[in-house]
Amino acid sequence: MRVTPWSVEGEIDYNKLVREFGTMMINDELLARIKKHARYLHPLLRTGYFFSHRDLDWIIDKYEEGERFYLYTGRGPSGNIHLGHILPWIFTKYLQDTFNVNLLFQVTDDEKFLYNDDKDMDEISKYTYENILDIIAIGFRKEKTKIIVDTKHIDRLYPIAIEIAKRITFSTIKATFGFNNATNIGMILFPAIQAAPCFLPSKFEGRLVPCLIPAAIDQDPYWRITRDIATKLGYYKPAQIHSRFVPGLGMHGKMSSSIPETAIFTTDEEDKIKDKISNSFTGGQATMKLQKMLGGNPENCPVFWYLKYMFEDEKSSDDRYIKCRSGSLPCYECKHALIDKTIIFIKDFKRRREEAKNLIDEYMLE
Ligand code: TYM
Repeated sequence: MRVTPWSVEGEIDYNKLVREFGTMMINDELLARIKKHARYLHPLLRTGYFFSHRDLDWIIDKYEEGERFYLYTGRGPSGNIHLGHILPWIFTKYLQDTFNVNLLFQVTDDEKFLYNDDKDMDEISKYTYENILDIIAIGFRKEKTKIIVDTKHIDRLYPIAIEIAKRITFSTIKATFGFNNATNIGMILFPAIQAAPCFLPSKFEGRLVPCLIPAAIDQDPYWRITRDIATKLGYYKPAQIHSRFVPGLGMHGKMSSSIPETAIFTTDEEDKIKDKISNSFTGGQATMKLQKMLGGNPENCPVFWYLKYMFEDEKSSDDRYIKCRSGSLPCYECKHALIDKTIIFIKDFKRRREEAKNLIDEYMLE
């Protein structure tokens, strides 16, 4: 297993990741504390999709003491947006609505230019625009959300980034991100740029502002180094809530834009969605006869997980699980259910993407 902000390989053992990264599992006590303030506990919490954290209990303490926190999340615009990206964002919107807090959304066009040898800035800028439409389509509160694009807003980020960069050595960056002597020097500075928004709200508001970052656990290396230097700079350490990865529609690995045939993009046409899901790997047996005899394996089935995370309540999902295990549910039924629900979802999402075209200025940091 190898998990970095740029690639996720192998079978993911989340317990091991929590141990290696030094994070905490979200337990029932913490869920109860969130529930106390929320109208409902989000399904992505109830199903354990968001499973790990750092200092989330502290964020709730602060909230209860009347200290409003800020949410911070982001996107590296290297391609179109797939369903894996938007799950953490849907959850971020839930947090924004529940706690009535501001959100800073960073778009790291610089990172994706520096990291990808084959991409020029024109291509990255095109995806920056397209991805911003997706971000707005999620429905974040206009008056409480600011999108920040690194190359456009560098004047806001740079003063904090150099304070951060000055306190982190090359050997720390090498050890944290696996960089080596062949890594370009832009990438070596970049972690300070992704760390800067953790502290920007404190600058905006002229007080110490707690910061909570919802994201998949692949982004965690950035927060480890940021937490190490936060108090030296006089800021609070940023807190995190980490999600698992949405699997791709292939046999292994997370959904990733670099394997487009196993990812469902918000821009995909209906036929594409049908094709991709029809060809998806499943947890089913090789033949219907074996399926009836042995039952399927929903644990290893991306179709099952998509239905569970995105479209079904717990009762329907549990029923599906039991029927699959018993061998009475053929894979094509689950695929059809997923195709139908995904098509409806994407159709509506595309409508909201269109509307977003007129809203960009309102969401952008001035
Ligand atoms: P990026 O563009 O790789 O990913 C955007 C967000 O999607 C999450 N993610 C996934 N979540 C579930 N399943 C998947 N298959 C999956 N693939 C990606 C990522 O964890 C992330 O939350 N460097 C960042 C951009 C960034 C950022 C941030 C992200 C800047 N500041 C603060 C999170 C929080 C990046 O390239 O993300």
